[in-house]
Amino acid sequence: MRQKLAAGNWKMHGLAADLAAIDALRAANPAPACEVVICPPATLLARMAERLKRSPYCLGGQDCHVAAKGAHTGDIAATMLADAGASFVILGHSERRADHGETSAVVAAKARAARAAGLVPIICIGETEAERDGGRTLQVLSDQLATSLPDGTDAPLVVAYEPVWAIGTGRTPSPAQIAEAHGHLRSQLARHLGAGPAAAVRLLYGGSVKPANAAAIFAVAEVDGALVGGASLAAADFGAIIASLDAAG
Ligand code: 13P
Repeated sequence: MRQKLAAGNWKMHGLAADLAAIDALRAANPAPACEVVICPPATLLARMAERLKRSPYCLGGQDCHVAAKGAHTGDIAATMLADAGASFVILGHSERRADHGETSAVVAAKARAARAAGLVPIICIGETEAERDGGRTLQVLSDQLATSLPDGTDAPLVVAYEPVWAIGTGRTPSPAQIAEAHGHLRSQLARHLGAGPAAAVRLLYGGSVKPANAAAIFAVAEVDGALVGGASLAAADFGAIIASLDAAG
């Protein structure tokens, strides 16, 4: 059985004053059955780690460098994320692929670095609207998955399906479209990793997940949780999404 996972991606949002949202979230959801990961901006990692101490909530980074250390001004090594208290790291988010030209080969190298530091990579993939309209969604997902995966099957892995056109737009794929994508990814994972390791990979859906649509999304087969952007910034919204995931069992 895969434990469900709710990951909050704060993106480039959050100042010290916003850490209080975590106290409200913990008060409302003190003992979630699902795993919860908060991925704040790097400037808040250490303070968030303090805030999450003695709670079931985990900490995650939003990116890491491929190298363990070195002359890379402005970058963050996976070892540094682990040192700050993180146990997960988001990799290959479409915003990083678009803003920083990250290729899937770079994402795979980052995932290797993350694993070497003991972090669980959350690898993001997803089609653009043009690719969906062109009937290329499954091929794009196959290609991105095959080239973004790190080698090896003996460490945990999370894959997030995030259609680019659904991120921050309020639009989501239909449950049938999510089911098709997740079913496809599960079978592709089995091709690459073998059936046993593929069955252990948690598949998240991401893109405009809100309290109002969470239950319908979590009812879809092969959806093991969500990667939540905007709604993770508001304790009430993220708390409701966590409760919805728990209710989905
Ligand atoms: P939104 O939930 O704001 O659409 O963002 C999704 C996302 O990109 C999470 O990584």
